[in-house]
Amino acid sequence: MDYNILVNKDNPLPRAHIPNNLVITESKYKDNIYIDVKVKEAFDKLKNEALKYKYYIDIESGYRDYDYQEKIYNKLLEEKGFSYAITRIAEPGKSEHQTGLALDFCIYRDEKCYIEHEIEDFQETKWIHQNCHRYGFILRYPEGKEDITKYSYEPWHLRYVGNIARYIYDNNLTLEEYKERESKKI
Ligand code: DAL
Ligand code: ZN
Repeated sequence: MDYNILVNKDNPLPRAHIPNNLVITESKYKDNIYIDVKVKEAFDKLKNEALKYKYYIDIESGYRDYDYQEKIYNKLLEEKGFSYAITRIAEPGKSEHQTGLALDFCIYRDEKCYIEHEIEDFQETKWIHQNCHRYGFILRYPEGKEDITKYSYEPWHLRYVGNIARYIYDNNLTLEEYKERESKKI
């Protein structure tokens, strides 16, 4: 499994791409969320460490196949129009959720679940952003890098990249910038 794989608007996956190693998660948010086995292990560790601070985090969305991505893309497109949708949700084939390596997390407080922009200023979110690299995750669509990622800020979307996560975090890079640097090294 290539944990460094770059999937974005310029690097799509074929419709038939289904990752190996998908496993089911035990998310309180929803049944039948699948994710790469290594990502599950890493997220479970992050989730457990968060408990030390009484932070209750879970997975809201994991692996999404091409057809499901198409469905949610079309729905948002219909509701909000092209210029809104194109910076919020990937067109089918262009979502890294199709790799099984991306997840959207949610936060529980007082038995209520908070998602997406609701969690932007939560201390749990800040803690996750500062610590997820220790478990191999990066914040994939950070604030201030919209011109590079081509998506608006998503404080909830983590991407598992394995051991390059620390370097990406320390150097404040996006995956696009990391790949660019790597390609120049050779
Ligand atoms: N919201 C992200 C960009 C996706 O749909 O994959
Ligand atoms: Zn996401």
